[in-house]
Order: sequence, then C-alpha cells, then structure tokens
Amino acid sequence: MYVCSCFGITEDQVKKHADGGACTPRQIASACKAGTDCGGCVRRIQALLGRGDCARRDLAAGGTAPTGAPAGAPAVLGATPDVRLPDAA
Ligand code: FES
Repeated sequence: MYVCSCFGITEDQVKKHADGGACTPRQIASACKAGTDCGGCVRRIQALLGRGDCARRDLAAGGTAPTGAPAGAPAVLGATPDVRLPDAA
C-alpha cells in the first residue's frame, strides 16, 4: 500500500529504510524523498516508524554509549555533563 502518493513510496519501502537505520521521518525523506512534497504522508510515516528498535532512538532515550565509545563518553551527542560551579564568594 502506498504511504506517499507524491513519490509512490510504499509501506514496505518505508519499513526497509527503517530497518536500514532511518529512525525519523526526516531520515526516511533523505532516503527516498517521502514526505518532502505535500507533507501529507509524514504522520503516516511517523506511525509506521512507531517505537520500533532503533539504535539512535535508544540512545536518545537514555541508553548507553555505543560499543567502542571512549570511557566516560556521553550516551547522547550534545549531552552536557552535570557540572556545578562553586558559589561566588
Ligand atoms: S504524499 Fe508524501 S509528500 Fe505528498
């Protein structure tokens, strides 16, 4: 069944891109252009992506750093460490 009629993208194609690592509608758009014309399919793409297994999504949800990351590396890029400055005298 078609998800994106503007580009003729099917559910199976979206699922294959998701299996290939596309976790967000933007990443699906980068892979196959779905959602980049009228935008009418974006919600449907979001629904298809759902809460499936996605390494990046797991990291964003507070998972651990990927294997091979340096010790002490934040699990999410851009995460700020809990730094406390001493009170001014
Ligand atoms: S239906 Fe997907 S961009 Fe229009």
